[in-house]
Amino acid sequence: MNDTILHADNLTKHFGVLPAVQNVSLLLKRGVLHAIIGPNGAGKTTLINLLSGELHPDQGAIRYRNKEITQLLPDQISRLGIGRSYQKINIIPSFTCFENCQLAAQSRLITFMGLFCSGKQVKELHERTEKALEMVHLSHRNKTAAATMSYGEQRQLELAMILATEPELLLLDEPLAGMGNQESNQIIELLQKLAKQHTLLLVEHDMDAVFAIAQQLTVMVNGKILETGTSNQIRNSDAVQKAYLGNNVIMKNEG
Ligand SMILES: Nc1ncnc2c1ncn2[C@@H]1O[C@H](COP(=O)(O)OP(=O)(O)OP(=O)(O)O)[C@@H](O)[C@H]1O
Ligand SMILES: [Mg+2]
Repeated sequence: MNDTILHADNLTKHFGVLPAVQNVSLLLKRGVLHAIIGPNGAGKTTLINLLSGELHPDQGAIRYRNKEITQLLPDQISRLGIGRSYQKINIIPSFTCFENCQLAAQSRLITFMGLFCSGKQVKELHERTEKALEMVHLSHRNKTAAATMSYGEQRQLELAMILATEPELLLLDEPLAGMGNQESNQIIELLQKLAKQHTLLLVEHDMDAVFAIAQQLTVMVNGKILETGTSNQIRNSDAVQKAYLGNNVIMKNEG
């Protein structure tokens, strides 16, 4: 099924006079792993922040499953089925792996009594947490304090925390940042597994990974979209080659 799940139309966001995102339009198709690449400061994280409701655009609109979400708040967007990760790790170190994940699962649950859950809901939360941790292969770490887990495991836990909110669309900001080869490979495998059941928007600097797993790529430079296409189209794009001439950030993986 290749229908549109999210449509960002002509988004612009300024910080003071700086246009961090300028007239950006993006179409995400259901089930497609779409990557956003580009140099530091290109506006990738700002774009994710706009899609997840952390920031609101100065101009433009965002539609998710044909519903306008442009002015919604992050928790409202999360409840609609869009989960996100952050560029910097975002867990509570003194909580166990299970507790961190359960807290995330709870954020999706709305009860009339606020923080109080019925017995049925507690059971549901528990099951959802277990399922999310199982998906990222962390069940054996349930009782481990997050602070004592390896960096790669903490990143896996973050993915479990997003999955615990049962999203359809995942916005992932540099999930491979700061990882060694082995840890990276584990997360890449995990992303491929998740991509079978979810739509993924992946911001990533690791070009080997991006060109290996993304079906669609969007290149951003200076807040604008330079090109969108398949990995072959991006490799062969004149605009991309021109922008990166003398700079092997993107083209190093060619061939
Ligand atoms: N909260 C903010 N206030 C002011 N300027 C900001 C803010 N957030 C981002 N910027 C600026 O907006 C531009 C785009 O930043 P952004 O973080 O979106 O880039 P990025 O593509 O994610 O970069 P990186 O690859 O380094 O993560 C940069 O010039 C950055 O300095
Ligand atoms: Mg960023």
